[in-house]
Amino acid sequence: MSAPIDEVAAGVAAVAIAQDSPDAGGEQVVTPWDVAGGADGKIDYAKLVDDFGCSTIDDALIQRIEKATGCRAHPFLRRGMFFAHRELDQIVTAYEKGEKFYLYTGRGPSSEALHLGHLIPFHFTKWLQEAFKVPLVVQLTDDEKFLWKSLKLEDARRLARENAKDIIACGFDPRRTFIFSDVNYMCTPFYLNVLKIAKCVTFNAARGIFGFAGESNIGQIGFPPTQAAPAFPDCFPHLFGTDKKSLRCLIPCAIDQDPYFRMTRDAAPRIGGHKPALIESRFFPALKGESGKMSASDPSSAIYVTDTAKQIKDKVNKYAFSGGRLTVEEHREKGGDLDVDISWKWLNFFMDDDEELKAIGDAYGSGAMLSGEIKKKLVECLTPMIVAHQEARARVSDAVVDQFFSTAPRDFPSMFGELSGDAPAPAEGPVSFQGGEHLVASNAPVARTDGGGAEGGADTAVQAGGGDAPLSKNALKKLQKEKEIAEKKAKKAAEKAAAKAQ
Ligand code: TYM
Repeated sequence: MSAPIDEVAAGVAAVAIAQDSPDAGGEQVVTPWDVAGGADGKIDYAKLVDDFGCSTIDDALIQRIEKATGCRAHPFLRRGMFFAHRELDQIVTAYEKGEKFYLYTGRGPSSEALHLGHLIPFHFTKWLQEAFKVPLVVQLTDDEKFLWKSLKLEDARRLARENAKDIIACGFDPRRTFIFSDVNYMCTPFYLNVLKIAKCVTFNAARGIFGFAGESNIGQIGFPPTQAAPAFPDCFPHLFGTDKKSLRCLIPCAIDQDPYFRMTRDAAPRIGGHKPALIESRFFPALKGESGKMSASDPSSAIYVTDTAKQIKDKVNKYAFSGGRLTVEEHREKGGDLDVDISWKWLNFFMDDDEELKAIGDAYGSGAMLSGEIKKKLVECLTPMIVAHQEARARVSDAVVDQFFSTAPRDFPSMFGELSGDAPAPAEGPVSFQGGEHLVASNAPVARTDGGGAEGGADTAVQAGGGDAPLSKNALKKLQKEKEIAEKKAKKAAEKAAAKAQ
């Protein structure tokens, strides 16, 4: 299905509501910074699709994806969690013809720990990356969070690095994944795109799309092109060279990010780029019920990737909104209310086994299973997943983070298709990485020189030093030691957590 002619205009109606928030008169509000349901507290996704002007994903499109990739659709896709898109069909058509594309997603580093909702796009992106075998760029918008939250710039930058560890723990392969913080990576090729996009968007359009008001600081008003720019491949000469302007981009995210990319798609033809395609999810609901909000300042509203097994069990038992009835007799007679039960909703996201999930739904919906029992099922599903995440995160050393942040040139063809063998050990020393908390980029990215078009267009040529330095024996030893210590710590933590859970 082709995109609406004026995507920005299509979204204005939806965001006009946001300008009136928080008293939006019972109307739902969905912007990148505010999400609130309508009068009944729920998000009306069909209305959102209409207001935003995107399309819903149908079975035929899912089947095409399965056929093109040879992979069974991820549960998030086959169960309708990723439910909307913009020109995903065109990406699939291009892929069927052998055309390449890359994935782009991101995180705004505003808190120490991610909640389970934040994991949704990253787990799904990992599946997309493995199914299509394509490169991925991950933007950490430390600038956005500094501008919107009461966060110091140095804290936003530190959180970007901390959050990167959780993203890496989702299992991405460094050979085809580049993670960057805006503050550290803002280099000439990136800034050129930011400028070109900014020039296409009037203040009136930005106000309509994002709901900016007189009180918005001008950093906020100027920020959206920074989130738009990575949808254009020439921001990344070290990955894609400088001759891949036509490389398509697919963006997985929740539907709250749609306004950024409506703007991006509107600007794309005017700056000579492809409109990025989108695959968009519903929101993973808050623990206390669909109308609630998961918040870092209210630990009972969500489960975080840092929670212990005991915390997971306690939170689910105490706070997970239940569709169970008041008495056991009534429950047995009427059955649990699957429409509101959070344990059931969360199991739908995270339980892989379709048959087991169906059996739970049947038993709970008919009253044979009680509220405490479905909560137990949820605890049993979440605990190993979160413990595994914590173990994986403990193995992400600083050297591993630098490997993902590295701006050393990569070989374009080898980022597509099968990867052979294990990912290489992380390099150390003067690789062209983006620096730590107090550093600025030590080197701007270097375009590849291996026939990938490094001759450079007038706009995008960059010159800088950098490149991978071979590891000394001592450095290798140090890394091995670090890895062993991290693994031991993770093992101990997991054993402790498992013991506590029993
Ligand atoms: P942030 O940090 O708010 O959220 C990170 C990603 O998680 C999604 N998300 C959710 N998904 C399902 N259920 C939820 N309850 C839930 N809450 C958040 C968000 O949609 C997002 O995909 N500005 C962005 C960072 C960003 C980005 C991007 C995101 C920069 N470039 C490109 C997606 C694609 C932000 O603050 O995300």
